[in-house]
Amino acid sequence: MVKTLQIGYEEYSTWEELDKEDFQLIQEAKRIRETAYAKYSDFRVGAALLLDNGKIIVGNNQENAAYPSGLCAERTAIFYAIANYPDAQIVKMAVVAGKDENTDNPVAPCGACRQVLLEYETRQKKPFEFLFTGMKGRVIKFHQTAQLLPFCFDGSQL
Ligand code: THU
Repeated sequence: MVKTLQIGYEEYSTWEELDKEDFQLIQEAKRIRETAYAKYSDFRVGAALLLDNGKIIVGNNQENAAYPSGLCAERTAIFYAIANYPDAQIVKMAVVAGKDENTDNPVAPCGACRQVLLEYETRQKKPFEFLFTGMKGRVIKFHQTAQLLPFCFDGSQL
């Protein structure tokens, strides 16, 4: 039997179409992207998280001469948030990425980051939103990170 999976998400054609909160979070992600340490790929990524205590936590990608030792912006930001605010809930996360100012293709999170996002969504027992975009233009918005990783492996299987 062949089964079909449906994944729901929103798409906006410009940042200006977003509501104020989403737009602000994207601006924060864009700002922190500037200081990414992306010496090897020159591909800079910024991530910003809104917590339910009102705090915005930001992070960017950190590369290393030993390539696998680097870390994506999403995980840099989320690990800091969970370490410092273990009791707070994540409301949403926004990611801005691209090589240059003209990148207008939304940059989706890598598989390892999806797994990490899902871990904390499961932990807080409440979905959080995930938005990603290039340096301008289209924005993709998911209402829960579980939708980014169908057929996932989680702790319930251990
Ligand atoms: N990168 C991120 O920070 N997030 C992603 O979701 C995709 C990739 C970083 C890792 C590396 O520093 C650079 O982008 C090129 O892969």
